[in-house]
Amino acid sequence: MLLPSLRILLGLAVCCSSLDNGLLRTPPMGWLPWERFRCNIDCKNDPENCISEHLIKTMTDRIAEDGWKELGYEYVNLDDCWSAKQRDSQGRLQADPERFPSGIKALADYVHSKGLKFGIYSDLGNYTCDGYPGTTLDTIDIDAKTFAGWEVDMLKLDGCFSNSSVKAIGYPKMSIALNKTGRPIAYSCSWPAYEGGLPPKVNYTLLGKICNLWRNFDDIDDSWDSLLNIIEWYGKNQDNLQPAAGPGQWNDPDMMIIGNFGLSYEQSKVQMALWTILAAPLFISTDLRTISDDAKYILQNPLTIYINQDPLGIPGKRILKNHHFEVWKRALINGQYAVAILNNGTDGTPRLFAANLVLLEISDCTTGYKIYDVLEQSFLGSFALDTVFYIKVTPTGVVLLFIRPLC
Ligand SMILES: *[C@@H]1O[C@H](CO)[C@@H](O)[C@H](O)[C@H]1NC(C)=O
Ligand SMILES: *[C@@H]1O[C@H](CO)[C@@H](O)[C@H](O)[C@H]1NC(C)=O
Ligand SMILES: *[C@@H]1O[C@H](CO)[C@@H](O)[C@H](O)[C@H]1NC(C)=O
Ligand SMILES: *[C@@H]1O[C@H](CO)[C@@H](O)[C@H](O)[C@H]1NC(C)=O
Ligand SMILES: *[C@@H]1O[C@H](CO)[C@@H](O)[C@H](O)[C@H]1NC(C)=O
Repeated sequence: MLLPSLRILLGLAVCCSSLDNGLLRTPPMGWLPWERFRCNIDCKNDPENCISEHLIKTMTDRIAEDGWKELGYEYVNLDDCWSAKQRDSQGRLQADPERFPSGIKALADYVHSKGLKFGIYSDLGNYTCDGYPGTTLDTIDIDAKTFAGWEVDMLKLDGCFSNSSVKAIGYPKMSIALNKTGRPIAYSCSWPAYEGGLPPKVNYTLLGKICNLWRNFDDIDDSWDSLLNIIEWYGKNQDNLQPAAGPGQWNDPDMMIIGNFGLSYEQSKVQMALWTILAAPLFISTDLRTISDDAKYILQNPLTIYINQDPLGIPGKRILKNHHFEVWKRALINGQYAVAILNNGTDGTPRLFAANLVLLEISDCTTGYKIYDVLEQSFLGSFALDTVFYIKVTPTGVVLLFIRPLC
């Protein structure tokens, strides 16, 4: 037991001189409108789904009342298209007066009154991605003050309509500006996604000092292809990405699309399992008024969330990839592990993956381990290190194992 825990301690000591705002010691959980609701501003013809205070308040109610909040889903955030097309007479960002007639401060108050946190969106550049006023270098301070005055708890700062040199100045500058407001505001930086996500163009040491989370790669779309692309990219580049994350500083593979139109039930489990292994932020982007029981069952699985929120905050890695299978493993507190076995095949029949604990390089506790199937919520048994077990994985599906030492 001594060696691995020592390694973990040393690893933490090396990795985490994170942003000093004390926030997001575990990955943030909440709701974001973007993937599901996009820039729908047509409140005249689509009043229930347009980006408006009505939509945000409705989702706030669902999160507060339908069991999400108790599980840790606590941020209710805005994305693009909330603002008016012009700043106000004093140069401050302001909400669209028709879609947000009560203003953002009142909306934040509403979210807070339900015991939840409120996040907002801006863009470091001349415009947001959808053409609303951006935060330019000379408006960083005033925007930070505006957000703090509205009692915002998180800022996602996108990167459309600016070049690399503006970003290199602006992202650190906003970090300082947020700190100067005196209000703890979690800071989500889209910066690396605009620079290819990899060193040498991206300096993850610097990002860990100025941001709490960051998008590394492409936006997610509502499809299995998009999900697989993202998983493959994180697997391929894990030696650069995995060490970058830890308490207070997270890689963000983007929103969860579970509950939408593009994924089957088995594919939805893949996103949940992989986001859990990756220690990823869990931002749901679906319609919580109409979410299916199946999708809710996946997103509200308490053991999955327990693993995602592990206090060590060490993201997992892909440890094996062969013709059909990928195996991902994450080390957890108290010598526990999570292992995801992903079947990438589309040839129609579930496949058996044969393994033992030694093969998975889980052998600190020589007595053996108890193994649980997290998503099926079942106990598979206690296993000696060399006992072979067979895991049946559906095509484009996953099995997520939780593994606890008997020692
Ligand atoms: C600002 O930074 C200082 C020093 O790094 C830190 O102690 C303080 O908690 C920060 N304040 C906020 C509001 O983030
Ligand atoms: C942003 O605006 C400035 C000043 O008008 C202009 O020089 C610059 O090219 C613009 N940048 C982008 C990326 O649109
Ligand atoms: C980047 O944008 C800034 C501000 O718009 C401009 O002043 C600068 O020349 C641009 N730099 C490059 C390398 O294009
Ligand atoms: C990355 O950023 C860190 C912290 O600001 C700095 O010490 C280091 O020199 C940077 N590395 C590179 C390669 O620029
Ligand atoms: C899964 O499928 C994607 C897309 O076809 C491919 O790039 C990737 O290498 C596959 N992974 C495995 C383990 O077969």
